[in-house]
Amino acid sequence: MRRNQLLLAIAAIMAMASNSASAQGLAEAYKDMFRIGVALNQRNVSDAQQQALVCAEFNSVTAENDMKPQLTQPREGVFTWGGADSIANFCRQHGIKMRGHCLVWHNQIGQWIYTDSLGQPATKELVLQRIRRHIKTIVERYKDVCYCWDVVNEAITDDVNAECPYRQSRLYQICGDDFIREAFRAAREADPDALLFYNDYNECDPVKRDRIAQMVSSMKADGVPIDGIGMQAHYNIHYPSADLLEAAIEKYSAIVPHLHVTEMDIRIDHNRGGDLLTVQQGGVDATGGEMQQLLQQQERQYASLFEVLRRHADVIDCVTFWNLGDRDSWLGADKLPLPFDVNYRPKHLYTIIRDMQSTEQVGVDQRAAERPDPNFHIYLCFGQSNMEGAARLEAEDMEGVSERFLMMAAADMPQQGRKTGQWYTAAPPLCREHTGLTPVDYFGRTMVESLPDSIRVGVIVVAIGGCHIETYMTDSIDAYRQRAPQWMLPALEAYANNPYMRLMHLARLARTQGQIKGILLHQGESNTGDAAWAQKVKTVYERLLKDIYMTADEVPLLAGEVVRANGEGVCVAMNRQIDALPRTVRTAHVISSEGCTNGPDRLHFDAAGYRLLGRRYAETMLQLLRR
Ligand code: XIL
Repeated sequence: MRRNQLLLAIAAIMAMASNSASAQGLAEAYKDMFRIGVALNQRNVSDAQQQALVCAEFNSVTAENDMKPQLTQPREGVFTWGGADSIANFCRQHGIKMRGHCLVWHNQIGQWIYTDSLGQPATKELVLQRIRRHIKTIVERYKDVCYCWDVVNEAITDDVNAECPYRQSRLYQICGDDFIREAFRAAREADPDALLFYNDYNECDPVKRDRIAQMVSSMKADGVPIDGIGMQAHYNIHYPSADLLEAAIEKYSAIVPHLHVTEMDIRIDHNRGGDLLTVQQGGVDATGGEMQQLLQQQERQYASLFEVLRRHADVIDCVTFWNLGDRDSWLGADKLPLPFDVNYRPKHLYTIIRDMQSTEQVGVDQRAAERPDPNFHIYLCFGQSNMEGAARLEAEDMEGVSERFLMMAAADMPQQGRKTGQWYTAAPPLCREHTGLTPVDYFGRTMVESLPDSIRVGVIVVAIGGCHIETYMTDSIDAYRQRAPQWMLPALEAYANNPYMRLMHLARLARTQGQIKGILLHQGESNTGDAAWAQKVKTVYERLLKDIYMTADEVPLLAGEVVRANGEGVCVAMNRQIDALPRTVRTAHVISSEGCTNGPDRLHFDAAGYRLLGRRYAETMLQLLRR
């Protein structure tokens, strides 16, 4: 055992040295942007040099084949775990998280699923029941190591002329699109913490792209728990263009909070896509000079597509290469599609990807390349009308805002000349164009007054008057929007109809610039009497932490009480639940509204009330910072 470990360590060092690579591998180079993953086969995890390479370069692993339906359940009820376990155990040993791949696919699935015990065609109900059982069994088994799953693979057709957007697979013919819906539901039930993906290829082709987007968004509107879209990225040196990739990212990221590039390879011939029947066709027949040219084209293509991925690091969480080295490529080694060659040595291409500098680019990319400033403290704020700010701004509120107190616009504010995602001195309004004074105004003022001059404080406020906590729950926002009253629609629209996602994306961006120190919540009025409120807050808080890669201990939650009005507040009953929040959320702290004056509606604070409440949020936060 010890000898093995020693050999492994030596091999690791040798591999690194022969890599010429470097003190830092790909995963390290991209740690502030996204994970870098790799698809592995059995040989990769049993060879010491390859193991070392994986550990040095990658921080996400996908089993290339071993977790697929055919391999894990070749016959009904007969589960074979050998291959899947050996990859999972390798990852467990080395602390690498896995992308589970894949639960339901028309390829590599046991044909038994289509036939009943009497040899008759299986009914829809039987197929769905088998899908549910398969998913439950495998997801539960790898819960500890798989942080996400490709739940359904390749269900949209490649035929641009087809009337029906779905691939006419046997699964579809028997179940219609219910096999997709049921699969996601079963996966959520088996592991509520795993991120669930729909995964497909040719995902940048406009027709297929729009069909994927349409399918996912309408299913989400029906409450199907889809967290992300997997873009397989089986590309070639000519296709797609950077513009097509960018358009796909923009389209998908408006619908789901997570995008993963799941199976990237860029082959040097004209073939592309992920269709198993055609993918190995074609070949490379090039002379020395031509080959040189192809490789240069490949480097340019990788660089230009990676530039797009880096620019969208706020929505992309993971980029996985499909296979470790060219020797393993499912396309055949002659397509030379990967950063490591047939002997697992890094190519020039590898260095280009790893050492890419964001040169001329502006925006997210450039900022992401800078180190987050430890003296820039950032607070995420969300809630309903009292967070939005319901009191009219008074002269004193407009004056004396320190330049050390900043706000990131969470929606465009044309009147103030503010653009979403940019920082400005935090003169009110902090929420949107026409909102008023919020508790966050005096929270920020008090923070900068109390902290050393070297510290800047930034706030990001996303709030919608009248909204329930459900507005911030990724699984229910689409259904919620359908029911939302007319007057709420413009506010939702300002956040592209998904306020959670807006907050989360901006938080990810902010994380590359400063340190997120806390979350301020003022919400509850609309959930008065909802016994599950605390649990729902917990769900939102934990999801947000997870999505921004932070922990509860790093980022406390400060929740303010609603208007008391000496016991006559319209929603005062809610304070009992708010006060009890720390029992459900260990790192929650309650901000008292005692003595905070209110307006005539007994629902909203007045300006003086917001000022006092805001200072109290700051006092609590300052105490926490001192700890
Ligand atoms: C491929 C594997 O790489 C091959 O070894 C296997 O023979 C067929 O499947 N889309 C997917 C992957 O989602 O699972 C496929 O993997 C490639 C296309």
